[in-house]
Amino acid sequence: DYFWIFVAACSYLAGSVPFGLLVAKVFTGTDIRKVGSGNIGATNVARTLGAKWGVLVLLLDALKGLLPVLLIPPLFVSPESPAFDHARVLSGVATILGHMFPLWLGFRGGKGVATSLGVILVLGPWSTLVVVIGFALTFLLTRIVALSSIVAAIAFGVAQFIQLGSAAFTQQKWSLAAFSIAVPLLIIIRHWSNLGRIMRGEEKKFSFGSRKKS
Ligand code: G3P
Repeated sequence: DYFWIFVAACSYLAGSVPFGLLVAKVFTGTDIRKVGSGNIGATNVARTLGAKWGVLVLLLDALKGLLPVLLIPPLFVSPESPAFDHARVLSGVATILGHMFPLWLGFRGGKGVATSLGVILVLGPWSTLVVVIGFALTFLLTRIVALSSIVAAIAFGVAQFIQLGSAAFTQQKWSLAAFSIAVPLLIIIRHWSNLGRIMRGEEKKFSFGSRKKS
């Protein structure tokens, strides 16, 4: 059953393409790791380089989450197979881990919010609606992206378990249930330094930047 390894490896490699780093470097000559929060995500690109580049990175990173989960599992597993759902979950997790811990950047990648958004559009479309509402409400109230991301991550886990109910413990759905706990946990861990600043009241509110070509 080598197909699991291929699903995981292809998805990890797709996830590890650092669009934030590439967009910032190619279009503005900036090393995104050296400005703002130093994160390679859409938030930091928007905050330092402006809305246009931030939206582009958000779209690219979300597509990077969405496409592997749609395209890679069918290459290795028949959609009729009972293993197909598990292969999709594995693909989603590997893609998110690729973004968070990319080989190319010494395993120092992003926080996984946009990439996870792409993945959950496939694996949990209804929960995605809850996630987007949770994110938007928190952002409107606080203007802090990291806090909005953490709330959205928790909202995802809760929405998933409400939907799954007792099915969470079945052979078919256990991997999706595990995914629904693991991904919020990973996102929270990646926001640990943000969380510290939020607790101390030091996390900056979001605003768009316009750093000029350096
Ligand atoms: O998507 C990451 C976001 O939640 C926080 O990013 O740059 O404010 O640490 P940043």
